[in-house]
Amino acid sequence: MRNAVFAVGAVMIAVATWSLGAGAAQSPTASRVERGRYLVSIAACHDCHTPKIDAQMTPDPKRPLSGRPMTTFPPVQGANDIRASLDLTAWAGPWGNSYAANLTPDKETGLGARYNEASFIKTIRTGVKPEGEQLAPPMPWPVYRNMTDEDLKSVYAYLTTLPPVKNVVRAAPSVKPSR
Ligand code: HEC
Repeated sequence: MRNAVFAVGAVMIAVATWSLGAGAAQSPTASRVERGRYLVSIAACHDCHTPKIDAQMTPDPKRPLSGRPMTTFPPVQGANDIRASLDLTAWAGPWGNSYAANLTPDKETGLGARYNEASFIKTIRTGVKPEGEQLAPPMPWPVYRNMTDEDLKSVYAYLTTLPPVKNVVRAAPSVKPSR
């Protein structure tokens, strides 16, 4: 009898360990998400992708990384300069207008609609969106492309844990891929 109890216990531990492992394979590990949060906080993503609550550029904690709000209008394009809205989410330059994207996992308007880990890494490395359009300035992908795979995976893992925010951001005008 004691052996039977022991055997049942061993099976339960095995099942528990297996299900922990299976869970980890599906959702990003806590350490990866934490690393991603750290990288996003030092890599200026909030400067351009988070709406602000005041003129001191304080990021809105209620809708982090949700992209250019509908209330922010692009500045008038200058002849020979680059201009930004006060909250840095809308830009105008020789390329036309560009709007910081919604990076939350919202399935209709955020990254959840068009990205997975592999296509996110590919876009940051190549500067080309999944649909084949070139990323417009000033998105600094030529800087971020130097991150390691592990760091880009961490950034993506963190972005998938954000509260999804429904916010349609107008896409940049088509910029032809350079290749
Ligand atoms: C200087 C401003 C700026 C900074 C800093 C910035 N971005 Fe961007 N980002 C933009 C703009 C503007 C766009 C839209 C470009 C376009 O539509 O072609 C964009 C687009 C993107 C896209 C493509 C989204 C799509 O709809 O296909 C991703 C992904 C992205 N940014 C991630 C990040 C991450 C992650 C960081 C921080 C590591 C970051 N960005 C920092 C300005 C910025």
